[in-house]
Amino acid sequence: MSVRLEDLPLRDDLRGMTPYGAPQAPLPVTLNVNENTHPVPEEVADDILDSIALALRDVNRYPDREFTSLRESFAEYLGHGLTPNQIWAANGSNEVLQQVLQAFAGPGRAAMSFTPTYSMYPLLARAVGSSWIAGRRDADFSLSVESAVAQVLEASPDVVFLCSPNNPTGTPMSLDVIEAVYEVAPGIVVVDEAYQEFAPREERSALTLLPGRERLVVSRTMSKAFAFAGARVGYLAADPAVIDALRLVRLPYHLSSLTQAAATAALRHAPVMLQMVDEIVSQRDRISATVEALGYEAHPSWTNFVLFGGVEDTTATWRGLYDRGVLIRDVGLAGHLRVSAGTDEETTAFLDALASVHSGS
Ligand SMILES: Cc1ncc(COP(=O)(O)O)c(C=O)c1O
Repeated sequence: MSVRLEDLPLRDDLRGMTPYGAPQAPLPVTLNVNENTHPVPEEVADDILDSIALALRDVNRYPDREFTSLRESFAEYLGHGLTPNQIWAANGSNEVLQQVLQAFAGPGRAAMSFTPTYSMYPLLARAVGSSWIAGRRDADFSLSVESAVAQVLEASPDVVFLCSPNNPTGTPMSLDVIEAVYEVAPGIVVVDEAYQEFAPREERSALTLLPGRERLVVSRTMSKAFAFAGARVGYLAADPAVIDALRLVRLPYHLSSLTQAAATAALRHAPVMLQMVDEIVSQRDRISATVEALGYEAHPSWTNFVLFGGVEDTTATWRGLYDRGVLIRDVGLAGHLRVSAGTDEETTAFLDALASVHSGS
């Protein structure tokens, strides 16, 4: 006989929570979790495999706890004069963000963001025992300096997440907002740049704001632009003192030698790994233009996905697409659905299916 979750001596503050659960369905076209739909190029995959094979020979030993080569590679990739002692990495940026919360939030402290935003922030915050403050964005999902400053002053959170550009809306965030929030926030300000590589090239990253701001953290991931979601590698840049704080909460040897070898090899090929970004951006813009032509409202996006509104019945539209072999995401925003940019064929399949659902409705 199996017991129910409610019958276990679970922490009171975890009762009633639901786990992260984007549907994983074996459909021909899956555009629901903002993955990079283009596989790692063959020649890079071969080099990564060689590096993993080498690392495997020493897998009887614990990995380099400080993942020195990988941090050097990230510093070089990010540029902006960053040095390896300003870099940290973990198994996906989710783990990086969790470690930031373990070090700077936790029981009796509060974390905050501006909703609608990345759905994992409240789950990560609650799982480490922090309280969660859901700030609000404007009606068009942007965040103004005035609104952000007023809300941060009122909430006085220990950790603030600024998702830039924002998931699930795609909305860019101006650096003015980040600077202004930093000025009034009493604690750590995390700029989550998971989708930064899909922003216009001329736009400045929050990395440019790091000098002189020791409470500012900029997180990134290899899951999106680098097509490395399955490898689970996220990283951040911050003051070396912040990195020291993260050493207090990480598990010993948290980054396996195979992960380190794979990520370091992939970073050697950064330009090739990133060559699909432009193609994805053009598919994203094609989605925006076509859903607009169908009569929906595409929200401006600096990411690899599009949030579109004006959907009369989100459940029926989502289901209609599902029945046509296309999986997208109902992010729980009334009248809205979100779709990741696919390959040319996947994008066509989505747009054709949407047109067919639309004309049937
Ligand atoms: C805004 C944002 N941050 C972080 C992540 C986590 O990415 P990962 O853990 O794969 O690095 C995601 C994933 O979708 C995301 O959308």
